[in-house]
Amino acid sequence: MARSALLNVMVQAALKAGRSLSRDFGEVQNLQVSLKGPSDYVSQADHKAEEVILGELRRARPTYGVLAEESGEDKGTDGQHRWIVDPLDGTTNFLHGIPLFSVSIALERAGEIVAGVVYNPAMDELYSAERGGGAFLNDRRMRVAGRRQLSDCVVGTGVPHLGRGQHGQYLIELSHMMGEVAGIRRLGSAALDLAYVAAGRMDGYWEDHLSPWDLAAGVILVREAGGFVSDRDGGGKIFEKKSIVAGNERVQKELLSLLKRPAK
Ligand code: IPD
Ligand code: CA
Ligand code: CA
Ligand code: CA
Repeated sequence: MARSALLNVMVQAALKAGRSLSRDFGEVQNLQVSLKGPSDYVSQADHKAEEVILGELRRARPTYGVLAEESGEDKGTDGQHRWIVDPLDGTTNFLHGIPLFSVSIALERAGEIVAGVVYNPAMDELYSAERGGGAFLNDRRMRVAGRRQLSDCVVGTGVPHLGRGQHGQYLIELSHMMGEVAGIRRLGSAALDLAYVAAGRMDGYWEDHLSPWDLAAGVILVREAGGFVSDRDGGGKIFEKKSIVAGNERVQKELLSLLKRPAK
C-alpha cells in the first residue's frame, strides 16, 4: 500500500505516541491523574502523548491549525487545514489496565476530513485511511461487514458516564436495541469502535455526547471501508450534534430508525 507524505506524518506521530502510551501503561499505578469533570479523568500519559503528536505534526506542517483534546484549539495560519487529535481515546480503560485504548489523528481540509489514523498500541493495530484511497488495518485493506439482518449483527455503543445526563433516554434506546440485535459491545474508545466497524468486526455503532477528536479519524475509516456514518438524525452534522450512527448502508439505516426519538 502506498501512503501519501501527509498520511505518513500522521502514522509516524501515532506510532511515536503509542510507544509513549505503552511505556506509561506498564506503570499506570504511578501516573498523576486529575479530574476534568465528574468521572472525566486525564493523566500524565494523555498530556505526554499529546505533546509527542503535536511536536511531530507541527514539525512537518507548521502552519496547519490544531484541535486537540487536552490543549484545545490553535487556528494556525494556513486557513485550510486542521489536525484533530485525541492523544488517548479510552483513558478510563487505560487507567484500569484494560488494553483497549487508542491514538486518534485526523486531517481536515476546508472542513472535510481527508485522512485519519487510529492506533491501538496494546495490539499493535494501525488503522489508516485517505479520501479515495481505501482503508487499511496495518497493511490489509478493510471492508465493513456485509450482514443484512439486525438479528445477526453485533453493535457497539458508548454508555454516557456520570455527569453526562440522559441515562433514562439511553436505557430506552438500549432496550430497543437489545430486542433486535445479536449482541451489544461497549469497548470504551469511540475511535476504536469506528475502527472495528471499518474492519468488519462490529456491524454497527451508535453513541452520543462525543467530541470531534473522538470521531474525526474513525469517520473516514468507516467511509473508506465502504460504510456509512451520520449524526443520530441521519444528517452530516456529526460534530455539531456530538452523535454518531455507523454501519454498512442497510444496517446504518436500520439503526437510525430504531434510534428515532419520539417527537417532543
Ligand atoms: C471517551 C471514549 C469513550 C466514550 C467517551 C469519550 P476519552 O474518550 O471515547 O469510548 O464513551 O464518551 O469521552 O475521554 O477516553 O478520550
Ligand atoms: Ca478525555
Ligand atoms: Ca476521546
Ligand atoms: Ca482522550
